[in-house]
Amino acid sequence: MKGILLTGGKGTRMYPMTKAVSKQLLPVYDKPLIYYPLSVLMLAGIREVLVISTPEDMPLYQKLLGDGKRLGMRFSYQVQETPRGLADAFIIGADFIGQDSVCLILGDNVFFGQDMTRTLLRAMENKNGATIFGYPVKDARSFGVVEFDQDHRVISIEEKPAHPKSNYAVPGLYFYDSRVVDIARKVQPSARGEIEITDVNNAYLKMGELHVTLLGRGMAWLDTGTPASLLRASEFVEAVQARQGFYISCIEEIAWRRGFITTEQLTALGEELKMTDYGQYLLSIAREAG
Ligand code: DAU
Repeated sequence: MKGILLTGGKGTRMYPMTKAVSKQLLPVYDKPLIYYPLSVLMLAGIREVLVISTPEDMPLYQKLLGDGKRLGMRFSYQVQETPRGLADAFIIGADFIGQDSVCLILGDNVFFGQDMTRTLLRAMENKNGATIFGYPVKDARSFGVVEFDQDHRVISIEEKPAHPKSNYAVPGLYFYDSRVVDIARKVQPSARGEIEITDVNNAYLKMGELHVTLLGRGMAWLDTGTPASLLRASEFVEAVQARQGFYISCIEEIAWRRGFITTEQLTALGEELKMTDYGQYLLSIAREAG
């Protein structure tokens, strides 16, 4: 399975913070926002990742992430000229996807929870069709929303409904088989002028091949769409890390625990950052192992 990290967009809702800096490079406590969704792909065992961003921001992502070798990963990069919509990721990434299945994660989505890895691996067991998630939120109006019938069967996904038919929002983490490329190519722009991921999901639903996994309260899916929610995400990460001593979404640690890199490589990554708590953390976990 391949991974796509979609990290374009203009970030206008976060101006002036994002006027000169891509939103997904803003810090969530001690690391760039992009590390959080990247870590989800890595936890799923996905090592080949296409990063899609704007022409202006692409050099910054290349500087931050490189070719991925240091993490035992393979990163490639493609530009999205204009923010045409989330489904555009599959059109841009058509050659990259080829005949493989693909996981799309939005560059501004933060997930954390005990069951994360198990949930991901279970989603990857569905070889055909699409797997998306439903997460309970107090106000679902700004998301894709799952509509159920009386027997809890999914009957539709609605994009940003004024009157949501449930409180289950669809987070920005999606698994598809390779047919997603053709399906995305057929999607027509919505009223807001975007080719919507929700239309892709409804196409799979119509074919009877959409799996919706409901996530429980043990899982945190954090919003980063406003200054207040970004601050809350930072506070959440700081609180958990300070209490447990374990880092959230530390991509070097995940690469090492997943066996993508050796303890020697982890030590070298820690040495480079040893002037920071982050680097000291890498060195301490490497020492424990040794
Ligand atoms: O976060 C989950 C929600 O993401 C879903 O519940 C919705 O169904 C889905 O449409 C999407 O809603 P948003 O309106 O919040 O998406 P937004 O336009 O903010 O874009 C999400 C990320 O994708 C953001 O990091 C910018 C990036 N992006 C967006 C567009 C439209 C791109 O890279 N290219 C694009 O063309």
